[in-house]
Amino acid sequence: MKVLAVTSEVFPFAKTGGLADVTGALPKALSKFGVSTTTLLPGYGTVLERLERVLVPVAEMNLLSEPVTLKKARTGAGEIIVLDAPSLFRRAGGPYSDENGQDFGDNWKRFAVLSLAGAEIARGALSGWKPDVVHVHDWQAALTPVYMRHRGCSIPTVLTVHNLAFQGQFDASLLPFLDLPASHYRTEVMEYYGGISYLKGGLLHADAITTVSPTYAREILTPRFGMGMDGVLRMRRDDLLGIVNGVDEEVWDPATDPYLPYNYGATNPRQKEKNKKILLQRLGLDTDSGPLFGVVSRLTWQKGMDLLAAAARDFLSKGGKLVVCGRGDRAIEQQLESVAHAHPGRMSVHIGYEEHLAHLIHGSADAIIQPSRFEPCGLTQLYALRYGSVPIVSRTGGLSETVIDANVAALSARVATGFQFHPVTVDALRHALNRALHAYGDGDRWARLRSQAMKARFSWDRSAREYAALYGRLAGTTIGQATDVQTSEPPPSRRSSRRLAR
Ligand code: ADP
Ligand code: GLC
Repeated sequence: MKVLAVTSEVFPFAKTGGLADVTGALPKALSKFGVSTTTLLPGYGTVLERLERVLVPVAEMNLLSEPVTLKKARTGAGEIIVLDAPSLFRRAGGPYSDENGQDFGDNWKRFAVLSLAGAEIARGALSGWKPDVVHVHDWQAALTPVYMRHRGCSIPTVLTVHNLAFQGQFDASLLPFLDLPASHYRTEVMEYYGGISYLKGGLLHADAITTVSPTYAREILTPRFGMGMDGVLRMRRDDLLGIVNGVDEEVWDPATDPYLPYNYGATNPRQKEKNKKILLQRLGLDTDSGPLFGVVSRLTWQKGMDLLAAAARDFLSKGGKLVVCGRGDRAIEQQLESVAHAHPGRMSVHIGYEEHLAHLIHGSADAIIQPSRFEPCGLTQLYALRYGSVPIVSRTGGLSETVIDANVAALSARVATGFQFHPVTVDALRHALNRALHAYGDGDRWARLRSQAMKARFSWDRSAREYAALYGRLAGTTIGQATDVQTSEPPPSRRSSRRLAR
């Protein structure tokens, strides 16, 4: 089975969040099920630099009046096709915004060209190579199924929604520049509240829609979480599936993580204390025996970081210490910085995106806090579990199904792995932090909680099996059986229908 993935991020080449982790890890896991993935990624300057020596030009074309070259490379994350369109992607800044954090004004064109390149590859632009299934991620690639259908290509498509908050909304007057007919400005095609939405186009054209947890798949059918797309999603509910993300253990394993001064595993978690001491010293925080809680996150409203800023004073005054690594909304960054400023030696805020520090925080902190208002899946809490940093999370989306709250029942059954709170308010978060502080005060209880957290397994194998089964159903074929995956789940069913059973 050959799959073409189309995405704006792939770890380790381009990453702003969890999307990259997923598109970087999934091809490796899928290969065990006989699925070989070729991933199309924009040729950002950093990607071209990094892969310079291994890229081989394989096709040239003109897309929306832009000359582009497709370049291929075999990488640790599978086969990658880099879309080299110099005027669109080789520029300073991140994948979506300039150095000042301003979205690029031509994102409509940049990601339409990405999507169109995906459609052209599906149509055979790579010397006749054609995928059996095309799997696109988020709004940046969501036009691929639209272009494919418009250009007469009927290969089955899957659209994965990683975050419904980002919808690719633009002015309808751009349609002619997208090489799409004006008639696409209709409610049942791409029209969205007076403009056009790439995501809506994808949601209406893809054969199957997935999102990154079963809970989020249910939540987005409601007005509260549907972000204006709930009506469209309810129409497609029979084709909507939630598949939870996994952990790439080649990248996130405390026993081998090269960023940690001391590696450790479930049998010697005390080594973690040594990392904690090093981190505290490096950040200039007090080295008393109190708990260190950490945050590695976008500092945004979605992630509830304003709630944390409001709850932090109480936590710090009770002997806790806090380290935050992230970036996002300037106002929220400032709120957190001002709490840290008022508590010297107790709280450190690092504004920025730093892979090294992210790993070190997971490998040092006693707990990781994630008070999201909504969370499609969340990877941070999965890494926290793996690293024995007890997760403290709001009960929403993927957080609700990956962390087991330390309530009396779970404690007595010895299955608790963290703390959940609900509703998502400052008071509820403060209460959860107090519960965690209290549990930390009982050394044996905390050690048990940490050990249970470290035993939780969110491997990509289980999720890759579900994606592979989905591809098989869409393409009307039986997918290969995994060769080295242990699981008690039944093998994927043999079905030829393109409709998905729920
Ligand atoms: P989202 O994709 O919504 O931001 P996830 O929890 O799914 O949230 O994934 C976030 C990913 O980004 C994780 O791999 C996390 O380690 C990483 N990350 C977030 N903020 C930072 C940061 N400031 N520095 C380094 N890595 C970060
Ligand atoms: C999005 C979501 C996050 C999810 C990630 C990867 O960024 O906000 O919850 O884990 O995508 O699927």
